[in-house]
Formats: sequence, structure tokens, C-alpha cells
Amino acid sequence: MEKVRVSLASPIQAYEIKIGSGLLRSLGQEVRRCLPRARRVAVISNRRVFDLYGGSAVESLQGNDFLVSHLLLGDGERFKSLNTLGKALTFLSETGLERNDAVLALGGGVIGDVAGFAAAAYLRGVPYFQVPTTLLAQIDSSVGGKTGVNLPSGKNLVGAFHQPGGVVIDTSTLETLPARELTAGHCEMVKNGAVGSRPLFQQTFEYLDLLSRRPAAGRGKKLESLIAAQCTFKAAVVKGDEREAFGRTDRRSRRILNFGHTVGHALEVTTGYRRFRHGEAVGYGMLVAGEMSKLLGLLKSSELELLRQAVRRCGPLPSAGDLNQERIIEAIGRDKKSVGGNIHWVLLERIGRARIVSSQDIPPDFLLASLRAVLKNRD
Ligand SMILES: NC(=O)c1ccc[n+]([C@@H]2O[C@H](COP(=O)([O-])OP(=O)(O)OC[C@H]3O[C@@H](n4cnc5c(N)ncnc54)[C@H](O)[C@@H]3O)[C@@H](O)[C@H]2O)c1
Ligand SMILES: [Zn+2]
Repeated sequence: MEKVRVSLASPIQAYEIKIGSGLLRSLGQEVRRCLPRARRVAVISNRRVFDLYGGSAVESLQGNDFLVSHLLLGDGERFKSLNTLGKALTFLSETGLERNDAVLALGGGVIGDVAGFAAAAYLRGVPYFQVPTTLLAQIDSSVGGKTGVNLPSGKNLVGAFHQPGGVVIDTSTLETLPARELTAGHCEMVKNGAVGSRPLFQQTFEYLDLLSRRPAAGRGKKLESLIAAQCTFKAAVVKGDEREAFGRTDRRSRRILNFGHTVGHALEVTTGYRRFRHGEAVGYGMLVAGEMSKLLGLLKSSELELLRQAVRRCGPLPSAGDLNQERIIEAIGRDKKSVGGNIHWVLLERIGRARIVSSQDIPPDFLLASLRAVLKNRD
């Protein structure tokens, strides 16, 4: 088992991420260790995940003297809504959850974000645990304390920072994850490596390389230590910039985690969230940001090639050659992350080193040229 300690500005909020195969069996013990006096745990999940893993989770919690109740939410991004949040809050109240008790999110990023936000809002904040079951949630969304839901007008527009009491990552849950969800998680791992450090990129690359040659060989120790390295990276960024301070544009700001996301979001929006898994869109987005970095003279061709090879090893991406590039550019202009009309692009100086560049400092035709280069070439 691997352990990652997430330390934050307030020491009381520090927590541990535990990573290993079969950890669901000791989930109850872990929650009990963190909350010695709690009586109840309210599990929030969805049908698919609960049918697979709910039994072990509940048994382990009950074995550690917790009263357990559960709520199953709809499956998919469209259920990350205010309506679902309302259902979750009503459930917490009806189940009699008290200040010392805990919410437990069992599922992917959608469940983690909604359950985390419900925990942040209910009684002005109760403890919660993340038990992420998708690769994306294990290396990204379960770490960092961002919780929230979407509005019809945009993603993640309502939410709160609320740090979990602990994160339990059972890597064996990935065995049932559909291939495209794995690809999406791989893309986010490449993203972390590309902006984080050369060793993290290298470790990710080697793992993906192994996986692309012998798919079954991915499980086990290598995956556990990679997830730990990914979480360690994310925890370090979060510690340095817990609330994504407005105006920070240095290479350790939380904003670097948005590498590939400017174009990625635009691809998701222009295809009505139907064609791409979020991470797949980020796969394309990283390639476009890489091209722009090269055009600006920041990134060497050999480094861009490494990024391309890494993205290729993530798995097949849905085709994108038919998409209207002008519409993608319009969608980028509407992105909520723009500040005073300018977009802060996360670009690369080399693999492992990000640079944030304002759209003011990028010739307007570079974006179109980069989109063309990436979207046409991949089909
Ligand atoms: N809070 C953050 O910091 C943060 C960071 C990144 C992403 N996110 C959010 O995360 C969400 C995406 O998360 P996701 O990619 O995990 O998607 P998801 O939660 O929709 O899960 C993907 C699919 O996999 C299924 N699933 C989950 N675990 C499974 C398992 N072990 N076996 C079989 N099927 C399983 C789910 O039921 C779902 O159908 C987005 O809403 C995004 O905004 C949040
Ligand atoms: Zn992402």
C-alpha cells in the first residue's frame, strides 16, 4: 500500500490518501481511525458503482460499528446538478446525519463532486471521505478539495472548497472501468506529468508504454506507485495554492492543472458533451497547447514529439477532424476561465515545466494554425 499525506495551510485539515489493491475491505477501519466518535456514514454513489462495490464498502463500515445508509444518484455528468444536490441534502437530513458523522463518496468524479459539495453545505460542513473508483477521480478530482455542481449555463459554476477527511483508493476497482474511461484518466496523468516534472512525465510514459504493449501488465505495483506520484504532485500544487488565487500566473499556481483544458472544454461544449469523455478532450487540448508553445518558440520540436507519443499511448481518441475550428475558437472566447477578456493559456517551456501566457501575447492566427495541425492530423 502507498500513502500520500496532503498537508494544507491549516494543519487540522491535513489528510491521508491510501492507495492499494483491495483497500475497500479496510475502508471502515480507515474511516473509524479518522472519526473515532462518529455514529453514521451516509454513502453516496450510483447504481453501477454501488452494484459492484457497495457491498464491500458497507460491510466494512458496518464491521467498524457505523450505521450506514446510502443514496444512489443518476449516472453521468448531467446529474451533476442543483437538482441532484437537493436530493443529496434531503437524504443527509432524512437519514439523521449529525455534525460528527460523515458522508462517503463512492464513485467517479461526478459522485465525488456532488457528494463533496453536499458535505460542504450540509450543517455548514460535515466530514467526508472520497473513495474514487475511476482513474480520473483517483489521480485528480478526489484530491484538492474542489467540490461542486454544474448550472445549465456552464460546468462547475457552483461549489465550495471542502477538504476530505481522507481518500481511500482501491486500485482493483479499475478492473471494471470501461476502456474509454481509462483513456480519459491516462490523458489527465500525462497532463500532470507535462506540467509537473520530468520524472512524473517519465514514470507516466513508461507505465503507458508498458500498458500499450501488454494491457494486462498495467495492474499492480507500478500502477499504485504511479497513482501515488500523481496524487503527490497534485497535493503539492494544491498546498501552494489551495484556493486557486485570482491573478496568480506562476508555474506553481493551481492554474497549471488546466493545461490542455482551454481547448478541451471548447471541444466538449461544441460537441454538446456527447462525443468526448472530458479526459479525451484534454488529450487533444494538450496537443494544441503543445503546438502553440512550439509556434511561440517556447517548446522544442523534440519535446512536442514526446508529448505526442505520450498522448498516443493513452488510447484511441474520438475523431475530431470534422469539427468546425471557428466554432471551437468562439467557444474558447466564452470560457469562464477568461479574466477581463483575456485567456491565460497554460503552455509548455519543456516537458515538466509550464508557462502561463496571456492571449494578448499570442498572435491570433497561432490558435487556428495549432488547431488545424492537431485536429486534421489525428484522423
Ligand atoms: N473536483 C475536482 O478537482 C475535479 C477535477 C477533475 C474532474 N472533476 C470532475 O469529475 C467529473 C468526471 O469524473 P469521471 O471521469 O470520474 O466521470 P464519472 O464520475 O461520470 O464516471 C465515469 C463513468 O464510469 C462509471 N464508473 C465509475 N467507476 C467505475 C468502476 N470502477 N467500474 C465501472 N464503471 C465505473 C460511472 O458510473 C460513470 O458512468 C467531471 O464532472 C469533472 O468536472 C473534478
Ligand atoms: Zn480535467
